[in-house]
Amino acid sequence: MPISIVPTDRVFVLTGAGISAESGLPTFRAEDGLWAGFRVEDVCTPDAWRRDPAAVWAFYSARRAQGAKANPNPGHIALAQIEEQIPGRFFLCTQNVDDLHERAGSTNLHHMHGELAKSRCERECGGAPVPDVAVYASLDEVPRCACGGRLRPHIVFFGEIPLEMPRIEREIARSTLMLVIGTSGSVYPAANFVHWARQAGARTVYIGPERPLNAAAFTQIVEGKAGEVLPGLFRVER
Ligand SMILES: NC(=O)c1ccc[n+]([C@@H]2O[C@H](COP(=O)([O-])OP(=O)(O)OC[C@H]3O[C@@H](n4cnc5c(N)ncnc54)[C@H](O)[C@@H]3O)[C@@H](O)[C@H]2O)c1
Ligand SMILES: [Zn+2]
Repeated sequence: MPISIVPTDRVFVLTGAGISAESGLPTFRAEDGLWAGFRVEDVCTPDAWRRDPAAVWAFYSARRAQGAKANPNPGHIALAQIEEQIPGRFFLCTQNVDDLHERAGSTNLHHMHGELAKSRCERECGGAPVPDVAVYASLDEVPRCACGGRLRPHIVFFGEIPLEMPRIEREIARSTLMLVIGTSGSVYPAANFVHWARQAGARTVYIGPERPLNAAAFTQIVEGKAGEVLPGLFRVER
């Protein structure tokens, strides 16, 4: 039975690493606790950046190279097709730093944890993030900002505040249907979004092969891989 999206619905979607798994990008919590051979604390924290920027850039350069080879899968495409049918009533917030949602055609999209294809000044000197897909072989190749600071990946490290939280909160408050896809419910504040949506009275649907840690907060759980389950899961009513 497809899930109906009715004309009064406003849809808020939260995606995590799971939606990109079928595109060949590894999810976060692999069996061995490593992410592409790195310990998260060594490459995804402000402390790691201060201690060893070369290791941080080595990791994100490798992810850029990997991301460039990946393509959107039917899960990304299904979400773009829903948005096309309900323009203005659809907001997609992703925890992913890859660009597979935009390449699938999603437009009202927010990358709460940053974007792999951008860099910004480490000193937050006021400039906007700049497009940057370079794969740096060494730290010497990494450009400096006009202020002298080094460019860092435009990524929200663990311990940093996600981008544009007030905008996310506003979108959740006015949504009537929240879809959460491929996220383990272990990274905050994203793991709390479903609770905020429930408080605002929204229906909440989880889609993924395993139950997330915050499973109890969902009104419905659809078990399966995003690329297999999402196409055809929703029916847009006119
Ligand atoms: N592609 C990316 O940009 C990427 C990749 C890895 C991690 N991250 C970052 O790591 C953090 C980890 O949190 P997270 O909750 O997103 O990831 P996570 O690794 O903690 O959880 C991944 C989730 O995806 C599910 N999953 C696996 N295969 C799936 C499939 N085919 N379809 C649907 N779901 C599937 C798993 O059951 C799991 O619940 C996030 O902050 C994110 O920014 C991003
Ligand atoms: Zn600067």
